[in-house]
Amino acid sequence: MTTTPDAGTRNVPVPTQSTYQNRVADYWNAEENPVNLELGRIDDLYHHHYGIGEADWSVLDEPDAGVRRDRITAELHRLEHAQAELLAGHLGPLGPADRVFDAGCGRGGGSVVAHLRYGCHADGVTISAKQAEFAGEQARKRDIDAKVRYHHRNMLDTGLPSGAYTASWNNESSMYVELDLLFAEHARLLRRGGRYVVITGCYNDTYGQASREVSLINAHYICDIHPRSAYFRAMARNRLVPVHVEDLTAAAVPYWELRKEAQHLVTGIEETFLTAYRNGSFQYLLIAADRV
Ligand SMILES: C[S@@+](CC[C@H](N)C(=O)[O-])C[C@H]1O[C@@H](n2cnc3c(N)ncnc32)[C@H](O)[C@@H]1O
Repeated sequence: MTTTPDAGTRNVPVPTQSTYQNRVADYWNAEENPVNLELGRIDDLYHHHYGIGEADWSVLDEPDAGVRRDRITAELHRLEHAQAELLAGHLGPLGPADRVFDAGCGRGGGSVVAHLRYGCHADGVTISAKQAEFAGEQARKRDIDAKVRYHHRNMLDTGLPSGAYTASWNNESSMYVELDLLFAEHARLLRRGGRYVVITGCYNDTYGQASREVSLINAHYICDIHPRSAYFRAMARNRLVPVHVEDLTAAAVPYWELRKEAQHLVTGIEETFLTAYRNGSFQYLLIAADRV
């Protein structure tokens, strides 16, 4: 809590984060979905995003119920990991002296992936104290905590050093914030020529406005999915120039198809995602941009 002068006469309290941000933090502090925890336990890489690529459907034919369950879990994890690797591939080339910033880092998997790939330093920031603590513990267990650090902070106002980062990203965390504020912070943290990458669901401008399914996804996760156009407008206003845009919508469908069959992992939002992708109202997008 800070204070600000009220008409120059007295100081009134100003919360350091909005009521909305408090609710988002409450959600992630309480979150213990099996789809996030059971997948991560496989190799201690905790991803809280979806997956891309063709699925191995043979896992559904497995006759033994226990083995089937484990194979589906492993396959979903493989698809989620493929997404993390795709994103990391767009950050480089990077070396051990480089620093990267993971905005809205969840339980930390993305920063670990970037570090294992490039040997770089990583700073992950999440608004959830519980996630930051969990991710930090994982880094200590891997003995990479000297280079991979997690912070309980607001990604719009990180307090991290200006111009210190060679690359930064949001993997499914940009729908929780105003894009101009987010990209201004990335532009401040990135050095000139640095690379920014986002993977996000966005609503399709050609559909019109947000569809019923997009509104249901917003309500499910307490987020505010932006239209595709908003990303490019806000990047242009904040010194981020797109160099690569990839529509991952078709590549995202097998993950949801498989997840729908995973009775031990479903959260109830699976059919809504599939309908949103199929009716053209929702897209899954990767945008890589250079900081100029
Ligand atoms: C769907 S999870 C994605 C986590 C992570 N990027 C990953 O790929 O595993 C969304 C994350 O955004 C974070 N988040 C939302 N609003 C935030 C804010 N204003 N500042 C920092 N983190 C935020 C949440 O705490 C959560 O970790």
